[in-house]
Amino acid sequence: MLDRCVHRFQGFVDRFLTGDATDDARVNLKREHSLKVLGEARMLTRTLDVDPGLAGLIHLAALFHDTGRFPQYAAFKTFRDAQSVDHGRLGVATLHRENLLADLPRASRALICGAIVMHNRFALPAAVAARPESPLTLAAHVVRDADKLDILRVMVEHFEAGGGGDEVVTMALPDRPHDYSPALVAPLFGGRVARYTDMTCQNDMRLLLISWVYGVRFAATRDEAFARGLIGRLFAGLPRTREIETARDHVFRNASGGKHDA
Ligand SMILES: [Fe+2]
Repeated sequence: MLDRCVHRFQGFVDRFLTGDATDDARVNLKREHSLKVLGEARMLTRTLDVDPGLAGLIHLAALFHDTGRFPQYAAFKTFRDAQSVDHGRLGVATLHRENLLADLPRASRALICGAIVMHNRFALPAAVAARPESPLTLAAHVVRDADKLDILRVMVEHFEAGGGGDEVVTMALPDRPHDYSPALVAPLFGGRVARYTDMTCQNDMRLLLISWVYGVRFAATRDEAFARGLIGRLFAGLPRTREIETARDHVFRNASGGKHDA
């Protein structure tokens, strides 16, 4: 089933290639991201010892979680939902329209679509979060964590490539190497996830991504983010102010449980 769906996903994505190098690079970035999120979801369901039947559905939700990105970019040339559409909802509508899950029972489709529609919310709806034992809640948490873990990779690679990066990937935020906003540092001390709307430059995006160590559901996700050096590499690109150095020490001491050195 998974192999068949990966093949179907590849065929679906191929239809969005236009021959324009910039557009195709962005389409392929999301293609690669989707496949990597599938890989992260497999790592998490293995670590969490999820029942194989449910794990299979979670893997499909991970593979298809960003289905909406492709029609979103084709129509609006952006990945910013606030300026276009909610790509989680568009993804579910697209999966239905394209019959990409047609061979699955209704209950399985509902679980996959539920996880997809919630993957890009700031937080899970309270009614869902309140039922941690529900398969839907587990699926939503795994997809959200797997997505965050791979976004950290994408953004670290993007920042390290230099040159200011692709404005569609950096959400059109200006690259001001010496700037960052205190509103994005405070959550690192408060143990909270920062808000997209507070970002004013690319360093703010680094800080926001670092704050995700407090927002992930599973210790395995957080451990991987530290173990792969992703958090350290995000800090390494920030100005070396006393405030940032203190924030780094705090994050490494508190979020990594002292397992990783700053
Ligand atoms: Fe997404």
